[in-house]
Amino acid sequence: MAADSPTDYRRGFDAAAADFDALGRHLWCPIGRATVAATGPRPGDRVLDACCGTGASAIPAAHAVGTDGSVDAVDVSPPMIDIVHAAALPQLHGHVADVVGWTGHGYDVVQAALGIFFFPDMEAGTRRLIGMARPGGRVGFTIWRRGAMEAPGEHLARAVNTVTGAPVTKRKPHLIDKVNEAEPYAAWLESLGLAEVSVITDDRRLDLTEDLAWLIITGSGYRSAITGLTDDQTRSVRDRYLATLAADGITEIDATTLIGSGTVPAPE
Ligand SMILES: C[S@@+](CC[C@H](N)C(=O)[O-])C[C@H]1O[C@@H](n2cnc3c(N)ncnc32)[C@H](O)[C@@H]1O
Repeated sequence: MAADSPTDYRRGFDAAAADFDALGRHLWCPIGRATVAATGPRPGDRVLDACCGTGASAIPAAHAVGTDGSVDAVDVSPPMIDIVHAAALPQLHGHVADVVGWTGHGYDVVQAALGIFFFPDMEAGTRRLIGMARPGGRVGFTIWRRGAMEAPGEHLARAVNTVTGAPVTKRKPHLIDKVNEAEPYAAWLESLGLAEVSVITDDRRLDLTEDLAWLIITGSGYRSAITGLTDDQTRSVRDRYLATLAADGITEIDATTLIGSGTVPAPE
């Protein structure tokens, strides 16, 4: 679910915020909790949660660090951060910012669930995040495993094409396509200087109802593909999308992630 244009995905995520939160129960929250289980924030820790969305990993991290710790939850989307603020935890601080340019540093834990592949330069952005952790600090990045969440995108693109004539374009080659299996992902994280790297495959399947199939579109980055359509066009896209999913016998979606984590080596 990497996007070609930063502007497109930002518009999509801003529009998606309420449905994104509704999809959280099915998708973002269990993945966020699994991410926090891997990064392991402790009471009193300072945590940076990059690309925090509505707080799927930031909120469990805030519970883990308690009121003696703090979590900076950073996202470019203001409506997402409004929802983070609604959690009303004193140790959880939401910020609207491009996290690649964030100047905070010395964090005990830096984590990003399903965010790093949106950076215009994924490798440079990820290096920047690693640089925000203290020596000896823990870092964790969650990405989709190869093939995960692809079926909704393919069926949506075909439906939009049928309704509007917009061409079905293939996403440009992207670093994520090279690292979205456990072994290359671990090797890539090591190449960024992390030690004690571990990659957990978090197997996850979503049983599809029609409502959930459509929520996956309206509550995720896929929303950018329908932003700007008229209500009639959107209804037609929804009908066509659900019809082709059913015709292809798709009753569940692969939502498996790779949770990569490691430590920042202390200087000798
Ligand atoms: C798929 S969502 C994941 C959100 C959250 N981590 C979760 O797991 O529910 C990706 C998020 O990354 C944010 N994002 C993308 N690029 C960003 C950047 N450069 N700085 C801050 N946030 C960014 C988007 O606005 C969006 O909320």
